[in-house]
Amino acid sequence: MEYRLCPSILSADFNRLGEQIQTLEKAGVEWLHIDVMDGDFVPSISFGMPVIRSIRKESKMFFDVHLMVSAPERYIQDFVDCGADSITVHAEACEDLERAIELIRDAGVKVGVSIKPATPVNDISHLLEDVDMVLIMTVQPGFGGQKYLPECTEKIVELKELIDREELDVDIQVDGGINDETMETVMKAGANLLVAGSYVFSGDLETNVYSIQKKMDK
Ligand code: DX5
Ligand code: ZN
Repeated sequence: MEYRLCPSILSADFNRLGEQIQTLEKAGVEWLHIDVMDGDFVPSISFGMPVIRSIRKESKMFFDVHLMVSAPERYIQDFVDCGADSITVHAEACEDLERAIELIRDAGVKVGVSIKPATPVNDISHLLEDVDMVLIMTVQPGFGGQKYLPECTEKIVELKELIDREELDVDIQVDGGINDETMETVMKAGANLLVAGSYVFSGDLETNVYSIQKKMDK
């Protein structure tokens, strides 16, 4: 299995955002995880289109945009226009999830669907043929730096079984509380795209990225 680290810029030092993104890119990171929060679907507010538009000018990385936003259908085209390469919406945030998936697909970017810890895999299993990635939240969405919720591991296993059984080409991304230890757990369970925020950005960025990538290659 090929694993990929997707650093979340939510934990970046925004005073040095461009510089930190360059460091990631030089260290071989290919995917950048971009957390957009609206203060409605989740309690906190992060950043939006202007920030993405700015960093797009300097980076060739794959921009993996995670929308923690109510009724995200309203903004799909805007995020594509400012540089998203994939858009992930929350199943819980869409009135018509199938329509949201269609909008993302029609806008020409990769499609992700995310579920919160309490939402069963079953709620989205009928849509697996229509998406490129499922994001299993392993903390309550809204903040970086929380602890991995162990009860989410079995959801990863369940999803992986479904994808394999139907022989689908769908990535499993995990997000929340990923560190040195939990990365082993989620990789074993079947996830291949690992989002990490606080773990990557605390201490020396380059050293952290290399040590995570080394663990993934093992
Ligand atoms: C949480 C965000 C995450 C967050 C992860 O709502 O979706 O991407 O940045 O942060 P850590 O890795 O610190 O749990
Ligand atoms: Zn995220």
